[in-house]
Amino acid sequence: MKDSLQLVVGADGQIGGALFAYLKQARVPVIGTVRDSGRAGPEHLNLDLRQDLRHWRPPCPVEVAYFCFGVTKLQDCSKDPLGSARINVQATLDLARILAAQGTFVIFLSSNQVFDGSRPREKADSPFSPVNEYGRQKAQAEKGLREFEDQVAFLRLTKVLGPETIFSDWAASLAAGKSVEAFSDLSICPFPIKGVVSILRLVADRKEGGIWQVSGEKDLSYLEAARIGARILGADPGLIKPTSRVKTGLGPETGGFYTSLNTDRLTKDLGLSLPPVDDVVRDAFLWMK
Ligand SMILES: NC(=O)c1ccc[n+]([C@@H]2O[C@H](COP(=O)([O-])OP(=O)(O)OC[C@H]3O[C@@H](n4cnc5c(N)ncnc54)[C@H](OP(=O)(O)O)[C@@H]3O)[C@@H](O)[C@H]2O)c1
Repeated sequence: MKDSLQLVVGADGQIGGALFAYLKQARVPVIGTVRDSGRAGPEHLNLDLRQDLRHWRPPCPVEVAYFCFGVTKLQDCSKDPLGSARINVQATLDLARILAAQGTFVIFLSSNQVFDGSRPREKADSPFSPVNEYGRQKAQAEKGLREFEDQVAFLRLTKVLGPETIFSDWAASLAAGKSVEAFSDLSICPFPIKGVVSILRLVADRKEGGIWQVSGEKDLSYLEAARIGARILGADPGLIKPTSRVKTGLGPETGGFYTSLNTDRLTKDLGLSLPPVDDVVRDAFLWMK
């Protein structure tokens, strides 16, 4: 498709915002969509995904569309399953249908939450086993998008770390001599946002559909991550207080211990190696400095 644009749907979210900025800097013709009409302009279309999208059309042919939108907090999906499914499932499928009919290659951002977390490095072809509403909606959207075959790439992400994370909050607390409580029974397998943006670009360039799993190299408990942070900041390790999900009342919807995904395809097809988990955590703690 010649002289066409790339489209970032959800261009003011964490990932969509970083991707949009990257594409602008790389001089890729791009437009974004934003829900807030006050932010709309020549480069940002106003699009509220709660509306009936069946008659919506992009202003010009779109070569690649990145679906970076969603109701992304687990508790928001459980509190409002119907409202969140309207965005996470229905809007996803409606937009994909419109764009696929025009020949657009769609990249859908999915999550490790389509699995139950009972095993490390879950394989891409494992059956879905979500334990919370967010994961069920991501799995449902993935199933629906299979209709478009190779015109859709699924980027399943573990925790993406950008500038604003729990680690930057902890870094501020530790710097102020305050204690932080960290789960010993819940893990994180973080991946840096810059890396996610690069992978999105590579997948868009290649237009190779199917599942791409993007995960850190190994699972690390929040407690271990907090201890790495304290060490890096030179903070008193005694300020790190272990806690557990049971103690804080979190239920089974937070899943098993593991969040890591098998990333063989990243290595085999894109030649990528995974960033060491200690480096990713260190960067997240130092972001505030
Ligand atoms: N970040 C992660 O660690 C992670 C991990 C796995 C998967 N993912 C997936 O990656 C995608 C992007 O994640 P993120 O962290 O960048 O999320 P985010 O910061 O929460 O951004 C979500 C985006 O969706 C938009 N949105 C939500 N409801 C909307 C509506 N009704 N109409 C129009 N726009 C709406 C938001 O717009 P407003 O700003 O107006 O609310 C925002 O731009 C999501 O699909 C998420 O599930 C993220």
